[in-house]
Amino acid sequence: MSKKGTDETADSVRRPTLFPEHFLWGASSSAFQIEGGWDEGKKGMTVADYNSFRRSGIQADTRTASDFYHRWREDIGLMKELGLKMYRFSMSWARIIPDGDGDVNQEGIRFYHQVIDCLLEQGIQPFVTLYHFDLPYALVEKYNGWESRECVAAFDRYAGIVFREFGDKVAYWQVHNEQNLMVRVDERMNIKAGDAWECDRLRAQMDYHMFLAHALAVKACHELVPGGRIGPAVSSTCTYPLTNRPEDVWAARMNDWFKTDYCLDMYYDGEYPGYYMRYLEERGIVPKTGAGDREILMGARMDYIAVNYYRTLCVSYLPATGGHVPGERSFPVNEVDFDQYGYFRHVKNEYLETSAYGAQIDPMGLRTVLNLYYRRYRLPLIVTENGLGAGDVLTENGKVHDYYRIDYLRQHIEACSQAIGDGVDLFGYSPWSFMDLLSSHQGFRKRYGFVYVNRDEHDLKDLARIKKDSFYWYRRVIETNGREL
Ligand code: BG6
Repeated sequence: MSKKGTDETADSVRRPTLFPEHFLWGASSSAFQIEGGWDEGKKGMTVADYNSFRRSGIQADTRTASDFYHRWREDIGLMKELGLKMYRFSMSWARIIPDGDGDVNQEGIRFYHQVIDCLLEQGIQPFVTLYHFDLPYALVEKYNGWESRECVAAFDRYAGIVFREFGDKVAYWQVHNEQNLMVRVDERMNIKAGDAWECDRLRAQMDYHMFLAHALAVKACHELVPGGRIGPAVSSTCTYPLTNRPEDVWAARMNDWFKTDYCLDMYYDGEYPGYYMRYLEERGIVPKTGAGDREILMGARMDYIAVNYYRTLCVSYLPATGGHVPGERSFPVNEVDFDQYGYFRHVKNEYLETSAYGAQIDPMGLRTVLNLYYRRYRLPLIVTENGLGAGDVLTENGKVHDYYRIDYLRQHIEACSQAIGDGVDLFGYSPWSFMDLLSSHQGFRKRYGFVYVNRDEHDLKDLARIKKDSFYWYRRVIETNGREL
């Protein structure tokens, strides 16, 4: 990437905008990654806390994170200065119901009321995710989390409490953040079984229960929040075939289907697509269902789809080795990303740049997925995550010259504008992240924010908030409704 200017105005490019008048320019975050105060205000422990503590010796954990829990007023002031139209954040289920399905914690409710009121006072629309990787840990202890229908009931109750409490202030709701990615990461689901088949059985059952929970939350939102709009956020997948060999093209399709599309289809149609059902059957892991589930799944109509987009993938066909007998535990396990289907092998795309953390940067891929999802479901779309993780440097005179982030975001915003020109109904763009926060895998070494948080992996320093060059650049983008990039 070329080095761009480092002051507020340099190198902006003026072009005709295609962004509609009330486009939601936003920025995103999630509770466990910014709040800190992990056990303050009677909050319960979450799966995200539990796993971050296990890694505390190696990287920062959720105890302090970006300290939003204590500095939210200052942070919302910065959001206002940035000109945000909306702020996408998640509520911590365990702050509201510490043990997941017991007493409601009024301190937690008060905290989110204060945050939401302050956002509204500043003219910023709250866009709330119910569940972003942080299941209350007590639900794991009681029921093994999403394996049990008790967890579905607990989520349904939590969603109802939240809608009743905040429904008159919040119009936009997101159910699960990236269910399709979350279920493939054992740590996020707290899957600890040693046996690969048992892990997959659990994963399929948990996934199914999360679909039920999604459908129940969509229904509850429509009943309890007048004019409320609700949808899922998916981790989007755009996969290129390594060659035009039909098997490689098929493998690329399968990668998209298995990683993302089956999930969108399930949200939309209320049933698994054929190829996914076949996988579940062949693997012998078809989830247990209950009477009435079909009506619940088919009765929920999401209002929009939120797309989280960072990079694209490239695959070649990988023949399954050893064959497999339907229902038997011996399933071919091959070297593929997070999954085990034996159809694809991830390879490097030589046409794309790779970020320091291995993401293949591809703005055109964003235009592609927005078109694909819009044409398939004909639902409004919003981007609720997109960004570049990097090891930003704070200079001696207190600046962060993140020209690489400006480059990345500029190109992706252009891709959004092109998608709108293609006819996609895109109603917002909310990059990851408003401020530096705890990265899922690299703590505070990898930063995404417009606002630098002055702390290191283990040294909390003064946690001061420092506006990066990208802050000033994005402010201008918002001010000009995307005309100046
Ligand atoms: C998304 C998640 O998948 O990726 C975020 O919703 C996460 O929670 C983001 O932080 C970036 O990933 P990472 O691993 O760099 O933090």
